Amino acid sequence: MKLEYLLSITPLESWRIVRRRIPGLSGAPSWTAHELLSSSKHSRGIRFAELLMRQEVIVARHMPWAPLDFASKRVVEVGCGPLAGYGPLAIFCGAALFESAEPEWDASLFCSGAVVDRYLRVLHADLSALYGPRMDFDPFCNALRERLTVHRCSFDAAPIFGPVDIVLSQSCLEHVFPLETTIEKLARIQGAQTRFLHLVDFGNHYPTGNPFDGLYDRPREEYLAKRGNAINLLRAPDVLNLFERCGIRASLIPSRTIELADPGNIHPWWRGQYDEAALATQLALIAGSPLD
Ligand SMILES: C[S@@+](CC[C@H](N)C(=O)[O-])C[C@H]1O[C@@H](n2cnc3c(N)ncnc32)[C@H](O)[C@@H]1O
Repeated sequence: MKLEYLLSITPLESWRIVRRRIPGLSGAPSWTAHELLSSSKHSRGIRFAELLMRQEVIVARHMPWAPLDFASKRVVEVGCGPLAGYGPLAIFCGAALFESAEPEWDASLFCSGAVVDRYLRVLHADLSALYGPRMDFDPFCNALRERLTVHRCSFDAAPIFGPVDIVLSQSCLEHVFPLETTIEKLARIQGAQTRFLHLVDFGNHYPTGNPFDGLYDRPREEYLAKRGNAINLLRAPDVLNLFERCGIRASLIPSRTIELADPGNIHPWWRGQYDEAALATQLALIAGSPLD
């Protein structure tokens, strides 16, 4: 981790990153409204609409894909993050129900005055501009209270039952240990008509010049022992195989492939497991749709 990067973010953000990477520590400290609202990433709720639009354009280049229509749908997100991720967007666009499981969820934080006034109000304005004035702010807040549920636990343990219409996740599956039980849970709640879109980030999650810097220096187990369970280090074909083994028909669409900076230094363990394309895929979408 570059010291200059740690110094460029707030002390709380640095501490959160460092804690996730120290084996033996139980996880990140609790989120605060101040930390979330001063984060350039978390404070911009509209980024979920931007992410979805970009991802849907990429998917549609590879397979038949109509934009997701949330109206009256039952929507599930794996690991929505502290501000409910895709939830507000889905509810604004008419979802009947949004459910997620997020181990770091704090319901009182999401309902706090700071989050309502400084996050949801701005997000509502941005959603209204983007999708049209579908509901005023107070009905929007009421709809969130009535139709959005986030369970504070891991996804595989959450009381979420199927069938669901739409399943999403954003940069979550690479953080899940073990991923298999979560995909097994997805297989239980999905039906033939379920549409899903998962963005998985296979990079090192550090602000390095190349997203794979340091990632392939040693075998996976050695990396995990040294850096802690922050990322599971599965590669794109592993994730696709898990979906298929669990009986979910899915398409894998690389959405960012970056040439390896120093191919000569890749540990033979990685070369023995994966081809160059798998090692160089930083971002990938795992998508499925009955149209497929
Ligand atoms: C990089 S964050 C992404 C959060 C959110 N999707 C976003 O884009 O802002 C990864 C999230 O996955 C969550 N997570 C990790 N393991 C999980 C599990 N087993 N079930 C559900 N969520 C999990 C973490 O708590 C964290 O909020």
